[in-house]
Amino acid sequence: MCSNEKHKLVNLVLPRGIHISENGIPSAYDNYYEKRASEMRGFYQDGNALEEIISKENVVLYRVYEFKNSESSNDLVYGISIVAPLKIGKEYNMTKGHYHEAVDTSEIYFCLNGDGYMVMETETGVTECIRMTKGTLVYVAPYFSHRTVNTGNQEFINLFCYPAHAGHDYKTIEKNGFRKIIFEEKGDPVIVDKRAFSENS
Ligand code: F6R
Ligand code: ZN
Repeated sequence: MCSNEKHKLVNLVLPRGIHISENGIPSAYDNYYEKRASEMRGFYQDGNALEEIISKENVVLYRVYEFKNSESSNDLVYGISIVAPLKIGKEYNMTKGHYHEAVDTSEIYFCLNGDGYMVMETETGVTECIRMTKGTLVYVAPYFSHRTVNTGNQEFINLFCYPAHAGHDYKTIEKNGFRKIIFEEKGDPVIVDKRAFSENS
C-alpha cells in the first residue's frame, strides 16, 4: 500500500482553516477555558493584592481557545492565549505556566498583539526570558517550563502550537514557582530572581 493511502485505514480528519480576529478570538474552536483570579492563588508574590482583586470582581486573568483533535504524537494541538493587562500588586499578570509531561516536546508561540515576555526555565535552573511583541516567534525548547507574562497595557495575544501527546505538568510550578519573576519598577518591567525579590520586600 502506498503511504498516502494509509488514511483509508483510519477515520479521516479533514483539514481546517480558521480566521483569527484582531482581538484574538478564533472563528471556531474545540475548547475554551479561562482562569479567574481565584484560580491563581499561590502564583503571585503579593497574596493580599490577589485577594483584593478576588473580593472585588474576581476578574478573568487569562483565556485560552484550543484546537484539539487527538493525543497522537503525529498530531498537533494549537490555539490562542490572551493574557489581560493587569498587575497583581507590582507583579505583571501571567499564565500559570507548566512543563510538558513529555518533557522532550517543544512548542512554538507567535505573538499577535501586545507586549510581554515568555519566561522559561529547566528544572536544573537554566532560565530564559524572551520579550515578545507583535510578530515575535518563540521556540520553547524541550525541557523548558514556560509561562507568558503581560507587561504591556493591551491584551497579550499569542498563537501556540505543540505536539498533541505533550501533556501538562502544573504541579511542579504550583509547588516551586519559576525562579524569575517580572514586576513593575518606576513604570517599567524588571526581571528579578524570586529569592532576591522576597528578601527585599
Ligand atoms: C500548551 C501551552 C499553552 C498554555 C496556555 C495557558 O502547552 O503552553 O496552550 O496552556 O498559554 O497557560 P497555562 O497552561 O500555563 O495555564
Ligand atoms: Zn506548553
